[in-house]
Amino acid sequence: MKTGVLFVCLGNICRSPLAHALFEYEIRQRGLSDSVFVDSCGCSSWHSGDLPDPRMRTEAARHGIDMTHRARRITASDGKNFDYIFAMDEEICDRLFDELGEKYWSKIRKFRVWDTDSSAGGIDVPDPYYGSKKDFASVYDICERNCRLIADRLFPV
Ligand code: 4NP
Repeated sequence: MKTGVLFVCLGNICRSPLAHALFEYEIRQRGLSDSVFVDSCGCSSWHSGDLPDPRMRTEAARHGIDMTHRARRITASDGKNFDYIFAMDEEICDRLFDELGEKYWSKIRKFRVWDTDSSAGGIDVPDPYYGSKKDFASVYDICERNCRLIADRLFPV
């Protein structure tokens, strides 16, 4: 049985698809692609079917990361289908508790739970949607660092 890891933000076009792509890279590097599956989704359907925001794709591409995910809204079955569900900020975490129900609460964690650097947003990955290029670069740094930390915790080499 494969282990499923899901990343969740609001629109599923900036933060969570980036974490999704970076975490897949970590999993590939560890040779675990056959035993771990990764996905992302949003708490809204505003951008369902869309590719990630071009500003996020540009920042990822600068680091050699390709983002091809199509946005989707969270569904009730995500609670059952995934083993670990990471919320990109505090508000998303609360929304996940409402969406998925008590049975799956133990699977939900904040994305920055193991981050020792609390600059730029504290426990949250700041929403860059109305931000600048610098904000997208900051989101990239946060996601890259924390995907590595999460992979180290869940799948140590
Ligand atoms: P994300 O960013 O949650 O990181 O994908 C957002 C994308 C779109 C919107 C808000 C946040 N929006 O308001 O459409």
